[in-house]
Amino acid sequence: DWTPNSFIESTIADLQEKIGNDKVVLGLSGGVDSTVAAVLLNKAIGKNLYCIFVDNGLLRKDEFEGVLKQYEGMGLNVKGVDSKQRFYDALAGISDPEKKRKAIGRVFIEVFDDEAHKIEDVKWLGQGTIYPDVIESVSVKGPSATIKSHHNVGGLPDFMKLKVVEPLRLLFKDEVRRVGKTLGISDELLGRHPFPGPGLAIRILGDITPEKVAILQQADKIYIDNLRSSGWYDKVWQAGAIYLPVQSVGVMGDERTYENVICLRAVESVDGMTADWSHLPYELLAKISNEIINNVKGINRVVYDISSKPPATIEWE
Ligand code: XMP
Repeated sequence: DWTPNSFIESTIADLQEKIGNDKVVLGLSGGVDSTVAAVLLNKAIGKNLYCIFVDNGLLRKDEFEGVLKQYEGMGLNVKGVDSKQRFYDALAGISDPEKKRKAIGRVFIEVFDDEAHKIEDVKWLGQGTIYPDVIESVSVKGPSATIKSHHNVGGLPDFMKLKVVEPLRLLFKDEVRRVGKTLGISDELLGRHPFPGPGLAIRILGDITPEKVAILQQADKIYIDNLRSSGWYDKVWQAGAIYLPVQSVGVMGDERTYENVICLRAVESVDGMTADWSHLPYELLAKISNEIINNVKGINRVVYDISSKPPATIEWE
């Protein structure tokens, strides 16, 4: 019978036998899968696991610092790498969503490769791949897909030549969560909404600047904090704010303003393949809208997305 405890016990034994005294490098994303994979590997091989957590400048507000602290609190051997500027430089002037994804994937690979080179004699690449990623590898988005598409251009980055270890390869998401809970990972981390690899880059329509990222981060934080305090965070499958590069007229005191729009998105879903917009209470939406408009400079209008998937998608890009 499959139980989290039996899985953890046998996986740790397998990992120890397979890896021995070798070193493993693993990229943490702040998400459930990479975290659970890292904690399992840490139990198996301890300090021979080298975790890398990259700040791409496209995470939620304060997320990099907060999550890095949590990782350290779990006893992980983790290095936080501030690469914000490298990502912003690579994204400058790019508006096309797929070009954004490619640029982010490329820079991530470069940063990760640089860091992996600093670990002497590393033999393995640890990954948080789960079963749905394995069976749907064709449709998987994010770093792994980007890495695949890079196979064909200019050869493999060195870290891709490492042997791969994927302790969660046979698990479904709910099993990963149960394993994570048994390993003592916090409910807060395990219950997080999915967040796309390219992060806020695909929630800023059009080109990306650090200023737009800062505005979106503030609005998104107000939104998510209110979802949490109202009890709605755990009722929706995914939520986030989107920055629209559209200006509209508003009024503040005696002055007219001409500023940007924030769109709020929240959906109900099982697997992200189909989704319905969440029927958030009007009072909650009103409170969030007021807080955003009153506190976020550069925003004078908030709208709520009432589109379902299909035919809309969850993200706007
Ligand atoms: P869509 O917008 O296609 O999103 O309805 C479905 C789910 O996939 C996530 N998503 C991504 N995740 N890299 C990722 O890692 C991406 O490029 C990407 N695009 C969309 C989205 O957040 C939602 O959960």
